[in-house]
Amino acid sequence: MKNTDSRYKKILLCLFIMASAGIVSGQKKINSRTDWFIHDRFGMFIHFGLYSGAEGVWKGEKLRNDNNYAEWIQYRNRIDRDEYITLIDNFDWNKIDPEKWVIMAKKAGMKYVTLTAKHHDGFALWNSKSNSYNIAKYTNPERDLVKELADACKKHGLKLGLYYSHWVDWEHRYGWDHSRELTGISPENYDIYWQEKVIPQMRELLTNYGPISMIWFDMWIHHSETVVTKDQLVQLKSLIRELQPDCLINSRLGLSVEEDPDVDFQELGDNEFGVTKKDFPWQSPATVAHSWGYNKLDFQYKSTTQLLQSLIKNVSLNGNMLLNIGPGPAGSVQPEIENRLAEMGEWLKSNGESIYGAGAYDLPVNYNDWGVMTCRKNQDKTLIYLHLFSNPVSGILNVSGIDSAPAIVYLAGDKDKTPISFKHDKALITLQLPESINNKIIPVVAMEFREYPSHIDDLVAKNMEGGYSLKPENTASESGTYTFIAKQKGGTVPDYISLKDPVKLTWTIYIDAPGPKKLDISYSYQGGSEKNSVEIKTVAGSLHHRIKNTGKTVEEPRSNWIIDNFSSSHLGELNFSQTGFYDIEMFVNPADGEEVKFQWLWIK
Ligand code: GLC
Repeated sequence: MKNTDSRYKKILLCLFIMASAGIVSGQKKINSRTDWFIHDRFGMFIHFGLYSGAEGVWKGEKLRNDNNYAEWIQYRNRIDRDEYITLIDNFDWNKIDPEKWVIMAKKAGMKYVTLTAKHHDGFALWNSKSNSYNIAKYTNPERDLVKELADACKKHGLKLGLYYSHWVDWEHRYGWDHSRELTGISPENYDIYWQEKVIPQMRELLTNYGPISMIWFDMWIHHSETVVTKDQLVQLKSLIRELQPDCLINSRLGLSVEEDPDVDFQELGDNEFGVTKKDFPWQSPATVAHSWGYNKLDFQYKSTTQLLQSLIKNVSLNGNMLLNIGPGPAGSVQPEIENRLAEMGEWLKSNGESIYGAGAYDLPVNYNDWGVMTCRKNQDKTLIYLHLFSNPVSGILNVSGIDSAPAIVYLAGDKDKTPISFKHDKALITLQLPESINNKIIPVVAMEFREYPSHIDDLVAKNMEGGYSLKPENTASESGTYTFIAKQKGGTVPDYISLKDPVKLTWTIYIDAPGPKKLDISYSYQGGSEKNSVEIKTVAGSLHHRIKNTGKTVEEPRSNWIIDNFSSSHLGELNFSQTGFYDIEMFVNPADGEEVKFQWLWIK
């Protein structure tokens, strides 16, 4: 059995590093402007503009381009500007009421909204004095949707953000559209657009509508790759800092969070969700179906569970989610979208404590196989929330890697904090889940700790089946030369490591239920040598295995996808006679220098 002293030293060191880095609730503070943002986590994006009146179809032809973004219809279907404005007649202006959007956001548990004040079409949704291509000039009575939305946000206590397409503008004679890649545009002319339209319009938005919590710029390449100059961006952000110092700026300004401290958070790609933990604030813009602007032919609705999982996973990695609605010409959204938002709001009503003010915990990403954790630090306690994406049939949940014992465990949202019984055994918390979780969407278990709970580094989790999955990515240490090969052919060739020389990989597991365990290995080997071997060494004993040829297989009938077979071989049994930490050392020895592809080891 492993001496645990060094493990405790590691934990103390880790706590010391965290304290000195000034981490609050698992997330480093970049600046105090973002405090509300990393607390609120969930906002509403609203794509509304002239394009909403087209609903994804122009003169009987559906949107060109498979990406199906209906707000691009003017550009995609090559619509003349003078004809494009006639879409204004398709709207039922009496029915359009931004307060309804705010109420929908509030009901969904969202804390901020971001409206497309000006999208790529260049049409302003407010009464812009500096450019007449705006909603007030084309509606009677005159409308100013930014003002109406600002008032509704104030009334209902939500923060207001504004999307402003700074780079692309299909209205201004010198604005950018991608056809300019063919025709070119001089820097002098582009600057005329910038000084005539962008700067004055931004000044209006930041002066006339009260506090603006964020400006959502939209340039998805770095400024150095296109027409916008650094000076122009600096001018823009200085204007924001001058007029509204607390307003957040997203990275689609065209500068990254790493290169400019005035960029407050990183905006991921469209419908791109987090995969790694980040210390700085970040956000995923997301849609319920596919398009951002209203598209009556877009039916690819994600389920409520999927949407909630995306939000939860982002929060577990210190990220936010900005979920979009694209109201149509009568101001409403598809019932499928509204229903999903309402269901998310219902879920957040009971489980919001695991989202608002919460962030990442210190264990690796995808650590436990039943779901993900978030962590929230209150003054006198820390909460770790377990989001169960799958419920164990046995009702027994294994939570590995936390060194401290919780004071109490209960279901999130349970005002009475009815205790859930648990056992803490050094590295494993075992919970007996109540029956009632089985009819809930993503049940959340709250574990309350008096002190910030320390985690254990480099420990393989005990999974839902009660086994341990030992893979190249969860080793405690390794030596020798190998190459990691990511999955191929749709995952039919799994992730593996390729090696031709001896390699040693070591994992650590915690055995809470002593007794004999079976060990299995999965690998692929295409040669004929009898000399290649695998050795397993632990204090519980050793095992030896001669590597055999695993042959090939065909991935699909009649396809030419002939792939190396990865199959599992039983290595034998070892008796782990005591509870405790065990190091599992595996030596793969390709004696003849032939390639062996190792995938996993399984202990149960
Ligand atoms: C892309 C699209 C734009 C959409 C945005 C949302 O940048 O060009 O239409 O508003 O993504 O993230």
